[in-house]
Amino acid sequence: MSEFQETIETLLREGKTIHIDGEWNQAMSTISLVDPANPPSTTGQLAAGSPVHVDKAYEAASDARADWASTPAQTRSDVLRVAADLLESEAEFASRRLTLDMGKAIRDASAEVARGVAILRYYAGEVLQASGEVYPSVDPSTTLQTIEEPVGTVALITPWNFPVAIPLWKMAPALVFGNTVVWKPASDAGGSAVLLVELLLRAGLPDGVLNLVTGSGGDLSESLTSASALKALSFTGSGGTGMSIQRALSDRTVKLQLELGGKNPAIVLADADLEDAAVQICRGAMFSTGQRCTATSRVFVERPVVDEFTSLLTREVNSLKTGDPLDPETDVGPAASRAQFDTVSEYIELARGEEATFLTGEEQPGDADGLYIKPVVLTGLDPSSRLLTEEIFGPVLCLVPVDGGLDQMVERANDTEFGLSSALFTSNLKNAMRFSRLSESGVVHVNRETAGVEPHVPFGGLKGSSNANREQGTAARRFFTNTKTVYIRTP
Ligand code: UN1
Repeated sequence: MSEFQETIETLLREGKTIHIDGEWNQAMSTISLVDPANPPSTTGQLAAGSPVHVDKAYEAASDARADWASTPAQTRSDVLRVAADLLESEAEFASRRLTLDMGKAIRDASAEVARGVAILRYYAGEVLQASGEVYPSVDPSTTLQTIEEPVGTVALITPWNFPVAIPLWKMAPALVFGNTVVWKPASDAGGSAVLLVELLLRAGLPDGVLNLVTGSGGDLSESLTSASALKALSFTGSGGTGMSIQRALSDRTVKLQLELGGKNPAIVLADADLEDAAVQICRGAMFSTGQRCTATSRVFVERPVVDEFTSLLTREVNSLKTGDPLDPETDVGPAASRAQFDTVSEYIELARGEEATFLTGEEQPGDADGLYIKPVVLTGLDPSSRLLTEEIFGPVLCLVPVDGGLDQMVERANDTEFGLSSALFTSNLKNAMRFSRLSESGVVHVNRETAGVEPHVPFGGLKGSSNANREQGTAARRFFTNTKTVYIRTP
């Protein structure tokens, strides 16, 4: 075991998981990290932070702000580059920790850690790109330019479903553009959070620049949003929590980035490569146990190919291996927590109550065997069914045959309060172009699953899925910096 790994294990054993101003601290009480593959056995303890910890974290972040903002961009870039190398060298340990946190199949966990490395490297480079603009002025003796400055102290509130990638795609731009951070991760991603903070410290991040407060959201949310030092907040999670954060900030000028839910559609046209569509849609719906806001949850199939596509999709879904997430052969791990398992099980019961047809997953293992859910494909649902309108966040896909062509299908696909990601399967370029215009969705895929995003392009949704502030790519630069306009007259 490396010294780094020993440190993480010790911090999690001792519940020393609050990091403020360069020090790891305990709290009065702890939250157990339950292994979703073997509940109720635990894999560590998190400190249950209080509003006092949040206040101290903001104080440390405010004190560190001026020095970090004036640290050369090259130095900030170097910290991320070293962190990327460190994460790469600890990839196996980090992937395992991620799987212990929330049960993602180890193959997907390893891919997520690799994505984390790529995110760190991308932002290490992005901060060294040209910044600001020079404009002509009406006065020839005036140089008119814009410069980008750090926003100040920012709060990051992250979910459990991507314990490494989502925190890094918020933290890396926040830090590299010179902001100081107060971070509150979901408890079911707490082990990975401790690992990421320790990694960044070892990469050379100065004390106070990144502060971590673990604990329950209910206990900490008010202190997180009310701090006067807070200048920007980035949140990924449920719509309800997102809206309450927005309300809490409504009388202040805090920049806000919200990434909320999805009810992502895939459309299969009769001219599609059906075999390929079945593979992509199965992955989009079921990988990561369907616990992605970009997961495919509705598939609309053009009537003439319903039977053929259904049998291809069913075969593909039935070939998935559900089980021990640490087994490299596993495709679908357990639900991340008991609460998540219960929520998804209720939707499956609802489908039984509505007499939906189970194309797969009618027999479920039941909770005596842990938190495993066999992937479910349903059809025969009423258009008003909650299964077709609400985000389930589990391995449940609803198949809807549609009479009529692309326009009718897009209309059905758009009929949702969400608009994060969508997919069309076709071999016709005209259909692909038309779909990319008609789909009410922040991310549009053609002949690709709905999930998966690359770090250098903007990511975010329309309608109830996001607010206007995109994440990643140059959008992250805009969010984590302020623009200042400078007139310099030299008569
Ligand atoms: C992906 O599709 O790989 O919480 C990323 C989520 C999204 C990120 C999805 N914010 O699932």
